[in-house]
Amino acid sequence: MPNDEVGKVFQKNHGMSHLDANTGTITLAFMHKHWSELDEEELKAVWDVHWKNEWLIRKERTLDQIQNSYAGRYVDALVQLLNPARIETVLDCTSGFGFKTMLLLARGYSVVGSDVSGVAVDAARELTRRMGFSIDFRLCAWSKCAEVWGAGCFDVIFNDALSWSTNERMFVDAARAFHTALKPGGILIWAGAAQGKDADPIQLAEQTLHSSPRISLEGPWTRDGSTIRRLIFRELNSKGDKIAILSHHTYLIIDEAGERLEVASIAEPTFWTWSKTSTLLSEAGFNSSATVEVPTRAGTRIFNISRK
Ligand SMILES: C[S@@+](CC[C@H](N)C(=O)[O-])C[C@H]1O[C@@H](n2cnc3c(N)ncnc32)[C@H](O)[C@@H]1O
Repeated sequence: MPNDEVGKVFQKNHGMSHLDANTGTITLAFMHKHWSELDEEELKAVWDVHWKNEWLIRKERTLDQIQNSYAGRYVDALVQLLNPARIETVLDCTSGFGFKTMLLLARGYSVVGSDVSGVAVDAARELTRRMGFSIDFRLCAWSKCAEVWGAGCFDVIFNDALSWSTNERMFVDAARAFHTALKPGGILIWAGAAQGKDADPIQLAEQTLHSSPRISLEGPWTRDGSTIRRLIFRELNSKGDKIAILSHHTYLIIDEAGERLEVASIAEPTFWTWSKTSTLLSEAGFNSSATVEVPTRAGTRIFNISRK
């Protein structure tokens, strides 16, 4: 999946330092700006680096294996919120590699997918084709949903990362676009940091930080002429009232061009309180926002539902 397009965007948005190492040159690539100041184009560059490398190291999986994975359990919970008799069209606007999108299609929903990462969109198209499905996947930032898909065309928009908006501008533009793209009475189903009630962002960040390893080193994988190792380092990072868990997905890549490190630093903000998000959604035109707890095989999953 690495392609010239990603390379160009990557070079434009990332600092490059060349370090001498005994084995040759190591190119260290990183984002210049603080995560809370990124716009959707810059966020796209971060996700492209992530998905480009995740594509190279992915495990091939059958639909049954996907159904038995985290994505399958997630969709089992999600469909409990959908009424198959009433729901006609669903947009998965955080489609990534398209696993949840495929599972929704397999359950009979009329579903399309989109993502800000062109690398992820290409990968989702390829993976669904191999599974024998046909799904319309489009490159689309949340703020462009109504332009790309049209106004008033979805019964449901699903977003599993709305609270990963890095700043208020991004959240507000996304909320407005989702509102326009939904049919009257349509719903936005989204996942948030603090759901249904306000929580202290620092406490939430600490809980999130301790819920997974602080550091992990995996690989090597050898694919398409590249050898890759992945180091993930997670930290609590803040600037003013902007608080997030920042996960530095660091890929050490050895290929015919030499050795380099590519870093996708992905922020999972915890500063979005329930009051703040529900107010912004109401200002964007949504009539109501509520939280729903859905029992699953692996405990309760919480979703937020905002109705147009
Ligand atoms: C947490 S990942 C989830 C991916 C997928 N749903 C899954 O379960 O594997 C969030 C996805 O949202 C996409 N994304 C993040 N910010 C976005 C934005 N502003 N507009 C569109 N897509 C965005 C990312 O590229 C990424 O694929």
